Amino acid sequence: SIVDPLLRTGYHFQPPKNWINDPNAPMYYNGWYHFFYQYNPKGAVWENIVWAHSVSRDLINWEALETAIEPSIPGDKYGCWSGSATTLPCGTPVIMYTGINRPDVSYQVQNIAFPKNKSDPMLREWVKPGHNPIIVPEADINATQFRDPTTAWLSGGQWRLLIGSAAEGGSRGVAYVYRSRDFRRWRRVERPLHSAATGMWECPDFYPVEAGYADGLEASASGPKVKYVLKNSLDLRRYDYYTVGTYDEKAERYVPDDAAGDEHHLRYDYGNFYASKTFYDPAKKRRVLWGWANESDTRTHDVAKGWAGIQAIPRKVWLDFSGKQVLQWPIEEVEALRHQPVTLKDKVIKPGKHVEVTGLQTAQADVEVSFALSSLEGAETLDPALAHDAERLCGVKGADVQGGIGPFGLWVLASADMQERTAVFFRVFKAAGKDKPVVLMCTDPTKSSLNPDLYLPTFAGFVDTELPDGKISLRTLIDRSVVESFGAGGKTCILSRVYPSLAIDKNAHLYVFNNGKADVKVSLLTAWQMKKPLMNGA
Ligand code: FRU
Repeated sequence: SIVDPLLRTGYHFQPPKNWINDPNAPMYYNGWYHFFYQYNPKGAVWENIVWAHSVSRDLINWEALETAIEPSIPGDKYGCWSGSATTLPCGTPVIMYTGINRPDVSYQVQNIAFPKNKSDPMLREWVKPGHNPIIVPEADINATQFRDPTTAWLSGGQWRLLIGSAAEGGSRGVAYVYRSRDFRRWRRVERPLHSAATGMWECPDFYPVEAGYADGLEASASGPKVKYVLKNSLDLRRYDYYTVGTYDEKAERYVPDDAAGDEHHLRYDYGNFYASKTFYDPAKKRRVLWGWANESDTRTHDVAKGWAGIQAIPRKVWLDFSGKQVLQWPIEEVEALRHQPVTLKDKVIKPGKHVEVTGLQTAQADVEVSFALSSLEGAETLDPALAHDAERLCGVKGADVQGGIGPFGLWVLASADMQERTAVFFRVFKAAGKDKPVVLMCTDPTKSSLNPDLYLPTFAGFVDTELPDGKISLRTLIDRSVVESFGAGGKTCILSRVYPSLAIDKNAHLYVFNNGKADVKVSLLTAWQMKKPLMNGA
């Protein structure tokens, strides 16, 4: 049945039971990674929200601690919503979060909390000083849409942070800047850092990056080559999009490099990935991205399972050499879970054929594959009407619609007879007036389960690659009901939730397929089974 316990994820972050949503205040402190998240201690639906807390040495094995922040003051009596951590120059981490101080959820204020005992590396207890709330919505702000403070950054003796909001009757997403000299009295800069006609901006994230520089930059870094990423979570459309641009700290304004960036919607992930947040990890000098993946199943099934929501595998994130987009890659620590490797080498997949990868269990696996195309001659012509809508393009040209070059890729969580299968694939097009190929990456779950009543959205994004030497890579993390894929070295990512009825546990198979008219060569495929890490005592 849909609530089969074997569909529960093995190595994606999850508490033993109940509802989870946004990642909150990820940080590194005295040898430990801290992770907080929106949590309902009483059930598998969104309500009674508190901050649950876990710690880890490696971002993969997790130990659950007591609830860190729960309603206890007037400023958060009706809910402790999302927020972020900032490490002060003295080394003390502070948390800023949104509190709901009226029963109808309509009024949102920002609170601060400090560790009770800084010598406890676990930071178990958090205290809320009496001067909370420290930021309240002024009269011209929509108090029902005023939340999710970012990590603060310091420049010229002043702290700044962003708060997500909406203006113009909700139609304009806004990131307000607040400034402070003492981290206590905060004043809004009148003009927002940035805004766009997208609807409410939840969970803003804003951080420095440098093109081609894979080492992360900490929040207050600056320099001549420093660019910024501004990410917002679109409440109306339920996805996270970002732009890359410049930040003028005097004017307190951010300008995307691509003037149409707020329309193009580059996304960290073209699948199920929301309310994400990064942090700078000083231990490994990298910026790490956390994102929440909800179930795509019904509330009734969530309640029957007793759990809902996971976190994507933390991803290292950095700015590509082009400066146009970020790259993402699962943190290297996840590789410690790999065992039982199986490889395929120089295997040509003929048109209409597939090859099974055998010799390991694949319900919980990591697969890396590099494909080689001998020519792009036979690529289909891209319908100009679909050229800007990857999702619709993939809806029309799913995994079973024969193409020229592709669709080729993986069938994961497939049943032995392939009645059930989730396709993760590429498809190459040629577009009128362009010499560069157009590469589409999709996850097609329409055949993922024989169970009825599932929500099975096809997810897709374009991959900005010229297919150097005809090559493209794919990595997919398979975890029972998660298919999390990274195309072309992390240029395009797609996380999907699927709920097979047959392809469960030992009955899950893995194939490479080619449904195009030209040969596709698997230069190298390596698949590993993934061990189960310590996961919050579950
Ligand atoms: C995003 C969000 C945030 C809010 C939190 C409440 O998923 O709606 O804007 O702070 O969840 O749980």
